[in-house]
Amino acid sequence: ATAHPDPTAGIKTLKDPNGLSYDNTANRSLNTWTFNKTLSNLIRKNILQFLDPERDISILKGTLKPGDIIHYVFDRHSTTNISENLYRLLPTVSPMKNQHHRRCAIVGNSGILLNSSCGSEIDAHDFVIRCNLAPVEEYSQDVGRQTNLVTMNPSVVQRAFQDLVSEEWNQRFLRRLQSLGGSVLWIPAFMAKGGEERVEWALRLILRHAVDVRTAFPSLRLLHAVRGYWLTNNVHIKRPTTGLLMYTMATRFCEEIHLYGFWPFPVDAHGKAVKYHYYDSLKYEYTSSSSPHTMPLEFRTLSSLHRQGALRLHTGSCR
Ligand code: CTP
Repeated sequence: ATAHPDPTAGIKTLKDPNGLSYDNTANRSLNTWTFNKTLSNLIRKNILQFLDPERDISILKGTLKPGDIIHYVFDRHSTTNISENLYRLLPTVSPMKNQHHRRCAIVGNSGILLNSSCGSEIDAHDFVIRCNLAPVEEYSQDVGRQTNLVTMNPSVVQRAFQDLVSEEWNQRFLRRLQSLGGSVLWIPAFMAKGGEERVEWALRLILRHAVDVRTAFPSLRLLHAVRGYWLTNNVHIKRPTTGLLMYTMATRFCEEIHLYGFWPFPVDAHGKAVKYHYYDSLKYEYTSSSSPHTMPLEFRTLSSLHRQGALRLHTGSCR
């Protein structure tokens, strides 16, 4: 690998108000970044020993039938049944079959994106992955609009769409789904118990209104395999975040991977406050020790990969 100036030189370790310590890495000397194709190929090869993202991105129709019992990944003692609707929406072939893209963007949901003006830069990628149905229209200047794959944790229906309590929320949710225009909607329905009703509401809307999305439901082995890959590389994550899952999978389909909106810290490198999400008022307590995620550790890992040229983290302004 080519030697690069270390963007973390002179790193400052800060303390945030919640007592989490973190480094303000990643947005130094970004202009010196060069893509390290050799390392990126090696990472892809190593990840393929743990999972095949093309296959594991979704369970396929032939492998299950309605009524089959599934154990949740994180709540092993709880089960759910494959509903008729879920069965109808299982893909028959992998929605990522034979897809290869030169430059992909993965957009995390950190408030670091606000006032970044990164929208058009993000949209210029060949394939754009977004997380948890985060809104784009009102923030397009900073986050762009293009969406080729978007994730939806069942909890999103509650957090962002008020559990569809009224006709108005139903309509809002439906409009958001309709705006996806043919992209992949990736629903981790079997991770943790408690979301089956919400998944079912979403599936019912998609079917009733013939919404143009390609649904995908990750296989049970995906989470374990992703965690296994990172553990083997000495990254001791409790439960990979959606963002890390997307990066791990994207290595299979993308040549160069660019990450935007990954910044799990309450202040930026200049000490200015940063919202947890660019679009709502969730607070940073969410990333505390009680959270199943280890976002700052993930971030340090991604920063290290950035420094080595395997991926590019964009944490500053795109102006
Ligand atoms: N993210 C980040 N910094 C933040 C917020 C989010 O780096 N301040 C990244 C994380 O990788 C996260 C992704 O952006 O997984 C999407 O954000 P979000 O929707 O908040 O994910 P989570 O709510 O954490 O969902 P999950 O539990 O599935 O990860």
